[in-house]
Amino acid sequence: MKMKRFYIHTIGCQMNVSDSSKLCGLLSSLGYSPASETGDADLVVVNTCTIRAKARQKAMSLVGRLAARKRSDPGLTICVSGCVAQEEGEGIIRMFPEVDIVLGTAALERMPVHLRRIEAGGGPVVDTDMTAGGDFDLITGPVTGVSHFVTIMRGCDNFCTYCVVPYVRGREFSRPPSRIVEEIRSLVARGVREVTLLGQNVNSYGKDKNGCSFARLLGMVNEIEGLLRIRFTTSHPKDLSPGLVDAFRNLDRLCSHIHLPVQSGSDRILERMNRKYTREEYLEKLETLRSAREGIALSSDIIVGFPGESERDFQQTLDLVRQVEFDSIFAFIYSDRPLAPASKFSDKVDEDEKRRRINTLLSLQNSISRRKNIEFEGRVIEVLVEGKSGRSGNGAALQWTGRDTTNRVVNFTVPGDCPGGAAVRPGCLAQVRIEAGLAHSLKGRAVAIADAFANVAVA
Ligand code: SAH
Ligand code: SF4
Ligand code: F3S
Repeated sequence: MKMKRFYIHTIGCQMNVSDSSKLCGLLSSLGYSPASETGDADLVVVNTCTIRAKARQKAMSLVGRLAARKRSDPGLTICVSGCVAQEEGEGIIRMFPEVDIVLGTAALERMPVHLRRIEAGGGPVVDTDMTAGGDFDLITGPVTGVSHFVTIMRGCDNFCTYCVVPYVRGREFSRPPSRIVEEIRSLVARGVREVTLLGQNVNSYGKDKNGCSFARLLGMVNEIEGLLRIRFTTSHPKDLSPGLVDAFRNLDRLCSHIHLPVQSGSDRILERMNRKYTREEYLEKLETLRSAREGIALSSDIIVGFPGESERDFQQTLDLVRQVEFDSIFAFIYSDRPLAPASKFSDKVDEDEKRRRINTLLSLQNSISRRKNIEFEGRVIEVLVEGKSGRSGNGAALQWTGRDTTNRVVNFTVPGDCPGGAAVRPGCLAQVRIEAGLAHSLKGRAVAIADAFANVAVA
């Protein structure tokens, strides 16, 4: 019998990227093989996001196109998974009766049961049960690169008034530390050198009483032999503990970067967002981080045009951005999400005004990011090599790419006389002299390469 092929489209955050990778592992264990494009696949999964209206629209138009294809190709199986699936459940089948499986955010591990039913000729399945609880995180997807996401917790209990995540991802749940450490050890044995610990709010890891704080977990991960770098995302400022600040002081493998979404520079708006910290408290936390780890890079998420945001509130956000000088930010236009309370707030900001604000904010941040990148020119920094990035021009030298501890993308060449250069490959540590600081990356030339695999047994 011909082997069935699957294709997964992923929209949304790192959690979805990581879930898709695990789903890939699960489908492979069922005997499916990956297709290189939708057109070649017998099973197409759309792993969806609903954080903003645009993300939901993108998912729905993709599902619409697949539904149209199925009318002439009835052998196609369509699965809609992730946050839109959780949010809309049966509504998806009503909209597109061609969809076979609707798989909510806590139902991914039940994919095999549902697939069997569809293969046996059963009708569509909607599984949005958030209570059945297996452990999807026991599944590891394909391990391809030197850097890997590791889910340490799921769900969110914060209920920021603009946000849909608590409704579609459910309550916070922390995985046992022993399982996380075990997973990372096995990833290291398969060539991984950097892990990013994932959760909607990793600072509250362990608060559901598993007896281990996030700072302690970081300490345990820092002991894993062969692991070079630890990153984590995302942190909520209100839960940033003194223990975590100490981790930046004491843990040598913890990278010099924290993504700490501030959302707004106005106390009035922060309160309406239910963020539970003030501008001053946020700034104080940044100061302690900066004194614990010199040169720590800071990035943030900012929403413009939240209901009731006045010009004055917006100016306070700009002022905070000027004061902090983030290394980078993600800026978003506020988008109504029907499940989130702010969608019922009456004082909405005009769409054109929101666009004007985001453009102002982005051009301010671009000039800051650019200036900070230029400061790197002339310095030698350590880069974990991730792969090749092509040639910079016709006949030009081959370029490699990786990131430094601050999470900046660094593209670089390896000159013929570079010590260790002949053995350069993903997973090596390169010392790179920076020649140009660009808007979103650094460019340079390697001065030495060390093979990070040299002292580690790789399976
Ligand atoms: N759990 C993470 C990230 C959540 S989603 C955290 O709390 O930091 C990523 C970002 O999307 C948020 O930080 C926020 O800036 C943005 N976001 C969430 N809901 C939004 C909405 N309704 N409109 C616009 N941006 C939104
Ligand atoms: Fe959403 Fe707030 Fe939870 Fe982040 S902390 S996922 S923004 S509710
Ligand atoms: Fe989107 Fe769900 Fe992530 S709404 S941002 S995919 S948690």
